[in-house]
Amino acid sequence: MKSKRILMTFFSLIVIASIALAGCTGGGSSATGKVKIGLSFSDFATERWKNEEKLMRDLLEKKGYEVISQEANHDVKLQNDQIDNMVSQGVKGLIVVAEDGDAAVTSVDKAADAGVKVIAYDRLIKTSKIAAYLSFDNVEVGRQQAMGVMTALGLPGSTTWTKANPAKVVQLAGSPTDNNATLFTKGQTEVLKPYIDSGVIKIVAQQGIDNWDPANALKAMENILSAQNNKIDAVVASNDGTALGALQAMKAQGLAGKVPISGQDATADGSNSIVKGELTVSIMKDIRLLSPLATDTMDKLIQGQPVDGMKNFSLADLTVDPSKTGDVPCVFLKVQQVNKDNVFDLVVKSGFQAYDDVYRDIPEAQRPAKP
Ligand code: BGC
Repeated sequence: MKSKRILMTFFSLIVIASIALAGCTGGGSSATGKVKIGLSFSDFATERWKNEEKLMRDLLEKKGYEVISQEANHDVKLQNDQIDNMVSQGVKGLIVVAEDGDAAVTSVDKAADAGVKVIAYDRLIKTSKIAAYLSFDNVEVGRQQAMGVMTALGLPGSTTWTKANPAKVVQLAGSPTDNNATLFTKGQTEVLKPYIDSGVIKIVAQQGIDNWDPANALKAMENILSAQNNKIDAVVASNDGTALGALQAMKAQGLAGKVPISGQDATADGSNSIVKGELTVSIMKDIRLLSPLATDTMDKLIQGQPVDGMKNFSLADLTVDPSKTGDVPCVFLKVQQVNKDNVFDLVVKSGFQAYDDVYRDIPEAQRPAKP
């Protein structure tokens, strides 16, 4: 009789405990009682995203959050499904690198309507329902890419490039679904336009690269080279991955290291290519600053505290599309040009990339001393 009562009490305790746990989960907390944050990535093909996933996961876990993370392999529909799914798992916040800044609006608006705080990370999602857009000065990225390439051509002030003999420039943009690609092109065009107008350079080809895929950039450059009979003088490419793809095609025609070309991200391979004298210029965007900015902002949003330092920008300005309405609170971090002269200090000494990666295949005698 007594043992039956003990058993009954035991079962009631289990029932009470499970009700309590279920209550927690329904409130956006996990069985552990932690608030859940979702990370949604367009892909892990670009070097930086995997690194940022790790940075943000560690920072959020340190703050006591539970982190769920998904990667969409460039599939727009899959990313929307993954976001919907994370919302139904009860996340309170989402940090999203959108594959497509238009398409992601569908799931992000639904999430925001359900009370989830959404941060557009690095890439804009074109809705004023996002709680913040945190990125770098992307127009400046484009300006620095074009300036690096123009400087390598000796412009302004060149006597080689004249109206009678303009430098033939190829412009490779990023993925057409990424709003950043629009901003990079905007900055590049600002710098290139006066030279185009005065006739000292001529844009001989202009093309977006789907998914920012290096293999697509290789193909695009092969086609451009054959259409131009290999007569190109410079390439303004929009990131290291696509620049290295283009460089493969250029190498096959003996143009690598002769024709200046830009990139972006100061990746390990990109920095190595700079050291080897093939990639002319990359752009350093310090993700070691962007990731903590995003996780601190998310923490404040979740706690209902004010976030300092954000400034409203109109979606019309951010998208270069006057038909867009509404404002978005933003922070944009500084960017820096990386070239042969400063790659060691900026990228290696600062620990952004490993010495052994950057100086891969470089004979010992030609390497600087290890920092
Ligand atoms: C980012 C770049 C990156 C590219 C490809 C852009 O939105 O700003 O840093 O190289 O996407 O992933």
